[in-house]
Amino acid sequence: MKYLITGATGNIGSLVTDRLIARGTRPCVFVRDAKKARALFGNAVDVRVGDLADISTALDGIDAVFLVNSGADLAVRDRAAALAAKAAGVCRLVKLSTLDARNGVGTGPWHAKGEAAIRKSGVAFTFIQSAAFMSNAFAWSQSIASEGTLRASTGGGKIAFIHPDDIADVAVKALTTSDHDGEALVITGPKALSYSEMASKLGAVRFEEISDDEARRRALAFGGGRQYADALVDIWRAIREGRLATVTDGVERVLGRQPASFDRWVEENASDFKPRGRIPGRGTRSGQPRS
Ligand SMILES: NC(=O)c1ccc[n+]([C@@H]2O[C@H](COP(=O)([O-])OP(=O)(O)OC[C@H]3O[C@@H](n4cnc5c(N)ncnc54)[C@H](OP(=O)(O)O)[C@@H]3O)[C@@H](O)[C@H]2O)c1
Repeated sequence: MKYLITGATGNIGSLVTDRLIARGTRPCVFVRDAKKARALFGNAVDVRVGDLADISTALDGIDAVFLVNSGADLAVRDRAAALAAKAAGVCRLVKLSTLDARNGVGTGPWHAKGEAAIRKSGVAFTFIQSAAFMSNAFAWSQSIASEGTLRASTGGGKIAFIHPDDIADVAVKALTTSDHDGEALVITGPKALSYSEMASKLGAVRFEEISDDEARRRALAFGGGRQYADALVDIWRAIREGRLATVTDGVERVLGRQPASFDRWVEENASDFKPRGRIPGRGTRSGQPRS
């Protein structure tokens, strides 16, 4: 089997590529910047350069595609990729989607349109309908490390973030076997937690509730544009209203093991959240929050 991995320089695509290499295969990565790919994977991959608007030139000899598309217009690129894959005789397309494709929240409608276009193309597919990634918490590192504070509009609502390793393991299973052809795999972490609970595990001593307007202002400052900022605010509102607390057995069903806990992700990434300077309310000796 020859695999084409899109988004290979991003969060999940890079983990999928690493896993395929570790299995003794030589995947193709579809990237905009060959140097970036070589820096990540050395000579262990074939590099095909191009833009996700048109992957047709990269499909020669490819059996299975891992597809990562982002943005409000992602369905256009999902559709083009699926039609090109079908025409090239690709036997399987695995799309990184979102659990919210089921509930219409945030970026969900964008992915739902993409999924519909892929279904219509006739190519064999698997959709990975993933919960939000634990690695989203990296966006909190600055305020937790420097102020001991997380500000969010999520209130006491909970969500079961998933470890990126679990998403990549599920993707590799879907790419390398026919077990999940035609399925939408709904995968989450093992336990729904509030932002306050997660921030506290990362060493924060305060959780400050902010309004949707303030959350939108901050999301816009991160970059990514108005539509993406609106999608994020919609997700945070849905968390606050208790609409995203879903926990599934998807990871266990696909991999035969439990998904990784948020505690494990915290252990692996604690250095990014280490306090910088003295933080009022945080104990100085242990670095732990006061109870
Ligand atoms: N974050 C979450 O909580 C969450 C939850 C569920 C689903 N998702 C979905 O996951 C996907 C994002 O996955 P990710 O976080 O692994 O990606 P990511 O880290 O944001 O990386 C995006 C990747 O796509 C590549 N890329 C972007 N535009 C491209 C273009 N026009 N042509 C070629 N390559 C292009 C980037 O390449 P460069 O290196 O060249 O920029 C990079 O490799 C999105 O569809 C999102 O909706 C996210």
